[in-house]
Amino acid sequence: MSEADAGAAGEDELAAFRRAGHALVDGVADHLAALPSRPVWQPLPDALRSELLALPLPDRPVALDALVATTMRDVLPHAMGNGHPGFFGWVNPPPSRAGVIASLAAAAMNPSVVAGDHADVHLERAVVRWLAELVGFPHAPGAGLLTSGASAATIVCLAGARGRALTRAGHDVRRDGLAGAPRLVAYVPAEAHSCVRRGLELLGLGSGAMREVPLDGGRLDATALRAAIAADRASGALPALLVGSAGTVNSGAIDPLDTLAEIATAEDLWFHVDGAYGAFGVLDPAIATRYRGMERADSLVLDPHKWLGVPVDAGCALVQRGDDLRAAFSLIPPYLRQDTDAAVGTFAEYGLEQTRPFRALKTWATIAARGRAGIAAQVVRANALARELAAMVEREPELQPAAEPVTSIVAFRARPAGCPAARLDALNRALPDVVQARGRAFITGTVFGGRETLRACILHPETRTEHLATLVAEVVVAARILAAAG
Ligand SMILES: Cc1ncc(COP(=O)(O)O)c(C=O)c1O
Repeated sequence: MSEADAGAAGEDELAAFRRAGHALVDGVADHLAALPSRPVWQPLPDALRSELLALPLPDRPVALDALVATTMRDVLPHAMGNGHPGFFGWVNPPPSRAGVIASLAAAAMNPSVVAGDHADVHLERAVVRWLAELVGFPHAPGAGLLTSGASAATIVCLAGARGRALTRAGHDVRRDGLAGAPRLVAYVPAEAHSCVRRGLELLGLGSGAMREVPLDGGRLDATALRAAIAADRASGALPALLVGSAGTVNSGAIDPLDTLAEIATAEDLWFHVDGAYGAFGVLDPAIATRYRGMERADSLVLDPHKWLGVPVDAGCALVQRGDDLRAAFSLIPPYLRQDTDAAVGTFAEYGLEQTRPFRALKTWATIAARGRAGIAAQVVRANALARELAAMVEREPELQPAAEPVTSIVAFRARPAGCPAARLDALNRALPDVVQARGRAFITGTVFGGRETLRACILHPETRTEHLATLVAEVVVAARILAAAG
């Protein structure tokens, strides 16, 4: 092919890209506009599910226009539901519009955000600092990075904790693994997210290294915790880690972080705070004091892809001392020597990933499009809606609150008239599926306080009172259906 032919082909390709891109943006905007008037979620039509599963690998190229058309027809309308203001499941917000647009530009650049003098690297450093500033966590350059989510960020932080404890005990875990190491102990509240346990399992501490932090109704029995730590020390184990939640997944509760921080300092434990869902709640002046102590954590994880609505994936690990992470992760083979002489080195020296996606652009765009004040207003609003929902639950005789909301999660249970107490657990367990299938609201369940419980997590900036009322009505109807079915 001549140079002129190659140039013409390139221009044709760009023209096709431009055309398909415009069609996609228009289609996405139409989709977003239509979402609130659609069912929150619907099961995939059987034929489409079979078609998707059996998709043949194409032999010949498919044109961009056709890819866009298929995406619009077969994919976008069949989403998880979290774009809808009536979605209250798990901890999944809609994407911020700014984040959606930024994702296109990030993909067009397609850097590996590790090192080098390019915009994405510097933007990630700025965005990590912004996140720390938003939640009032101290920040030094290098002391944090974006991750795929809180689960990955937790592994990063716990690796720092493990390394610090074992180094102080004179054991080189990177060279020797855990063979011959002192037995580490982690003090973890019962309501901590499962990612903490999984992190401890992966790092070789084992879930058997977990002791439950004696918390009751949000109050810490500090004497019992201190006694447990002393007993572990006396048995020859090495107490290493204390975990607190800044917003539990089940009920949005905030642990007494200040007291936990004090004990961690006094006992020389690494204090890790899980703020994946709730850390941004500190922006609500009405509850800000509950977060006191979070800023003293050795490590804090938070998820911009939760309350902020940054399109998945965007998690973040923040630490007081970047060197704790660097000591755990830095490994620089000769073929990856870029920037290793710089003071903070490369992102790959602080975490799990070598090739790293450009998460910072969508995070930057999402935060900038609202500003600190806009984000704070959104958090305050979500918390107020949670209190409003709790009041509706309280007024509805066939529902029963399970916890008073502190942040934007409301935990409650159904108790339809005439349903025997012995059947309530099974009924509450089955209830979310019935609500979801009806398509007017979306809620998920959990076990809280030993009982099957419904939980509604409010994150959508466009959720209004009418959506809460629909949720309450739908839960009551679903409970009656289940009670009648026997
Ligand atoms: C409190 C809490 N911690 C950790 C996680 C795990 O976060 P991710 O799913 O981003 O890994 C979640 C997820 O919902 C959470 O709510």
